[in-house]
Amino acid sequence: MCGIVGIISSKEVTGRIVSSLKKLEYRGYDSAGIATLVDGNINEVKCEGRVDTLEKDIGKFNLTGNIGIGHVRWATHGKPSKINAHPHSSDQVSVVHNGIIENSTILKKFLLKKGYLFKSQTDTEVIAHLVTEYLKANPLKDTIIKVLKKLNGSFALGIIFKGQNNLMVGARRGSPLAVGYGLSENYLGSDSYALKSMTNKISYLDDGEFCIVKQDEIEFFDTHGSKVNKKVMNLSKNEINNDKGDYKYFMEKEIDEQPSTIKSCINEYVDKYNNQINIYNFPWKISSIKSVMLIGCGTAFHSCLIAKYWMEQNTTLDVSVDIASEFRYRKVRFKKNCLYIVVSQSGETADTYAALDLCKKNKMKTCAVVNVVESSIAREADLVLPIYCGQEVGVASTKAFIGQMLVLYILSTKISFDQKCITKREYQAKIKNLLTLSNTAQKTLKLDQKIFNISKVFANSKGTMFLGRGYSFPIALEGALKLKELAYVHAEGYPAGEMKHGPLALIEEGMPVVVLAPRDEHYKKTISNMQEVIARGAKVLLITNKNKDEVISENVWEEIKVDKLDNELIPFLMTIPLQKLAFYSALEKGYDIDKPRNLAKSVTVE
Ligand code: F6R
Repeated sequence: MCGIVGIISSKEVTGRIVSSLKKLEYRGYDSAGIATLVDGNINEVKCEGRVDTLEKDIGKFNLTGNIGIGHVRWATHGKPSKINAHPHSSDQVSVVHNGIIENSTILKKFLLKKGYLFKSQTDTEVIAHLVTEYLKANPLKDTIIKVLKKLNGSFALGIIFKGQNNLMVGARRGSPLAVGYGLSENYLGSDSYALKSMTNKISYLDDGEFCIVKQDEIEFFDTHGSKVNKKVMNLSKNEINNDKGDYKYFMEKEIDEQPSTIKSCINEYVDKYNNQINIYNFPWKISSIKSVMLIGCGTAFHSCLIAKYWMEQNTTLDVSVDIASEFRYRKVRFKKNCLYIVVSQSGETADTYAALDLCKKNKMKTCAVVNVVESSIAREADLVLPIYCGQEVGVASTKAFIGQMLVLYILSTKISFDQKCITKREYQAKIKNLLTLSNTAQKTLKLDQKIFNISKVFANSKGTMFLGRGYSFPIALEGALKLKELAYVHAEGYPAGEMKHGPLALIEEGMPVVVLAPRDEHYKKTISNMQEVIARGAKVLLITNKNKDEVISENVWEEIKVDKLDNELIPFLMTIPLQKLAFYSALEKGYDIDKPRNLAKSVTVE
């Protein structure tokens, strides 16, 4: 959510800031901007919309410079517009900001009284004027310390100063910020993706720290201004994967990649020769863990919900699940024998990070299931379980959801065996089934044409419902979320058995409803619930799996059958048609599939 890049160099920086912003565009694409110093003076170019537009405008204005900051915005305060785009500048400084300044109204009043004029509706503009005000009576470093003390909320900042060609400032509280080390040049970036094309040596600011970045030197300070030493990390060489190959959309590519990402993930955790699961560096005795709390947001939360079913089914663990933005403000009774598992694709989601931080502060055992292993969440947790699915570019999470479920399933199976809840034979049978998942997922992808035809009805409907029981309930939630965020169709995921307690009132003639009814112990009950919605006029798309005793379900509008597989693994297969349904519905409406309106890939504000 919003992306920052800053470069100080002996060479021209504008072009490189723009190409780094393109790599950060997954974080925000409402508007973009850049400010550089030209002959010591601040020059800005900003625009509403994408970095491509910014690039054209920069060309028109011929913006140059050896020091500069750039930003892609995801609007919080003030609508997306050129005036609200960052950087925000006074006559002395220019600022880019990720996060939210919670006391901006009070600070604005103070600054208005001092005679400062505001151009934008953003919270960020107060920072530019506040720095300007404090600079009148203080040297630069003291100014930064004083300004940071005045700000409430979360922020990552990049600041350049009129007449100061030799430095820029970075600061962080809550929102992540990295610095990169180059040859006679240095960088600021909201994450490692911003910097990877320029350097593989980076350091992350810790909460409350700020830094002064010069061409040949970077100094780090704590909140009080005392110097701190930073570890320099080597980034992995994986370049950001901006190549769509033969695909038009990242989302489509990422859905189709799932069989191979399933394989890569299984290869990392499953020893096929000895038929066992290896989780290296597991730091605790299994007997010391009696319960698990799974925490995430959005799609990651749905993977937590499924894991609850697996863990309750196969282990003796007491399992709870919570949405990170709720967990972080609840009066949680922390338990020493509980393992707190946070799940996040980006590893930067502000609420999930805060939930993890709360667990750490209470000295709990923590585990992070992440995709980005260099992320803030991965750096904090005691145990990191990567999902190994490669970079996910499409804003709507697809292959990462499969990866999150997979790692949680693997963890659950391993605990189940270690707790002696299943025999060695059962354990090895589960592993054997798992090894067939990639091929079965590949076959599920072939159901494409049918889903393409069906999607037209969903795309053009006023509202839809997704129903399921047991493992299929979280998948119903996920299917509904995908349709909402991509096709902008109102969609509700519901436990099929709950319909009669209220939502049945929503069903009207012709309303498309997805019913997930795998041939498991819930099948008959779900089919009865399905008949209840059909009786009230719903047009049902039934998603089930192949079975010996083929029952043609009466009165269904359309039916999709995934392959037969162990019941516990069916959620993986059920997910794929729902991802495709959302994809084709968005395609039908001509929407921006990889960058849906109002959303961002990395949600770094709460
Ligand atoms: C939906 C989606 C979001 C994310 C959520 C958490 O398709 O992508 O709901 O799942 O914002 O993001 P991470 O997993 O990065 O913490």
